[in-house]
Amino acid sequence: MSASRPQPELTSLHTPYSYFEPLPLDCIFPSNAPLEVEIGCGNGSFLITYAAQNPETNFLGIERLLGRIRKLDRKAKRAGVSNIKIVRVEAAYCVEYMLPPESIHACHIYFPDPWPKKKHWKKRLIAPKFVEQLAVALQLGGRVYLRTDNEPYFEQILQVFGDNKRFQATVAPPELTQIVTHFERSFNAEGISTLRAQYRLREAD
Ligand SMILES: C[S@@+](CC[C@H](N)C(=O)[O-])C[C@H]1O[C@@H](n2cnc3c(N)ncnc32)[C@H](O)[C@@H]1O
Repeated sequence: MSASRPQPELTSLHTPYSYFEPLPLDCIFPSNAPLEVEIGCGNGSFLITYAAQNPETNFLGIERLLGRIRKLDRKAKRAGVSNIKIVRVEAAYCVEYMLPPESIHACHIYFPDPWPKKKHWKKRLIAPKFVEQLAVALQLGGRVYLRTDNEPYFEQILQVFGDNKRFQATVAPPELTQIVTHFERSFNAEGISTLRAQYRLREAD
């Protein structure tokens, strides 16, 4: 029988008391600072850099793979970044049921799984229902920043946000644009360029 290696405590991981109630943000973060969320934060390549640049902001990462959360946690500890918490849960579920209404200042979605085969497109995250639910979780004026390498998915992103009257196209600040994510670095090294879109939540008519 082989003994499994003891794992270090995951300081960044927040394990919710309940998956059926909104996250208690005031208990998760020590300060009542603006909240930004990254969906599918992977190994934290974006989140750690951006959180270090913005110590007065709270960051919540949503990621389903524990191995990537472990890597993120190690990197965050090494970088001395403490304004990040991760929840290990499916992203669309989290946005619909666990993010309190009007709680998010900005949402980052970088290289969501593209599901390239047409028969799988229904599994893509960026779809009308998800975008409606994101509008509920965002504060008025809140931003959504998106990147992908996949042209058909980019077309879908433009279509879905374009069809939703609550969102208006906007620009990303240069300090945000300059940060390259882990997947982005690999794609760009292969000569695949990044497609970007960003939106602002406006008042309902
Ligand atoms: C292609 S990777 C991109 C990672 C990172 N954003 C980057 O740009 O380097 C997509 C990430 O999203 C996570 N992911 C995909 N679908 C998810 C879902 N439905 N819920 C939570 N995480 C998801 C994957 O586990 C993976 O870490």
